[in-house]
Amino acid sequence: MTRRILIAGNWKMNLTLSASLELAEGLKQKAAGFPAVDIAVCPPSVYVQPVAAALQGSAIKVGAQNVYFEKNGAFTGEISAEMLTDIGATYVIVGHSERRNILGESSELVNVKTHAALSAGLIPIVCVGELLKEREAGTTEQVVRRQFDGSFSGVSAGDMKKCVIAYEPVWAIGTGKVASPEQAEEVHAAIRKMVEAKYGKDVAEAVRIQYGGSVNDKNAREILAKPNVDGALVGGASLKVDPFIGIINGAV
Ligand code: PGA
Repeated sequence: MTRRILIAGNWKMNLTLSASLELAEGLKQKAAGFPAVDIAVCPPSVYVQPVAAALQGSAIKVGAQNVYFEKNGAFTGEISAEMLTDIGATYVIVGHSERRNILGESSELVNVKTHAALSAGLIPIVCVGELLKEREAGTTEQVVRRQFDGSFSGVSAGDMKKCVIAYEPVWAIGTGKVASPEQAEEVHAAIRKMVEAKYGKDVAEAVRIQYGGSVNDKNAREILAKPNVDGALVGGASLKVDPFIGIINGAV
């Protein structure tokens, strides 16, 4: 089974509308050269629609960075999965560590968001990953297993195949401290085993597991060469055309 590499840019709370459109236009031109790689960008929600419009006619898909689990109603400030598909989103990042740690999102909340995304036809990119102190305490796999079990509770095998898991060690995010390819591969292989134990080999072989945390155009190739690393979720290096294209280039 060959899994298509997915390189996704997480723009986080960055850029203006005009800078977003400029970045999208720049990527659109250069991304055409990579038919074997799935590419996505996840702008702030207010820019999802204009960026999706700018990327029309290209293979680059657009994702959101968060979603609420209810369909509609009195949930001031929240955005539903249906609203995201309605404005052209294909993916949505769920349970990013910044949301887990800064905004207190639990795996239970990540779970209902994952279900909502799947019901609306969005592809959830579900993030898991340990804190530095958890790695140092030797509990990485335990932490990731807890997040995996919680986040995917009640997800069917058919839906699981559509999901993307992003392994993002929190100590590597935005710090310049990238996990070594071996450290990444070890956790990715463990996550694939978790998928296999719950859903069987077929699903485990189909699910894409991205690495995230200080990925750049210099270190991407080595990490992406690992057998269980099926892509990258990129923060800082996704905000400019050339570094992001360099990462995509590292995938081929
Ligand atoms: P970074 O962020 O590439 O800036 O470390 C990755 C992420 O948080 O998804």
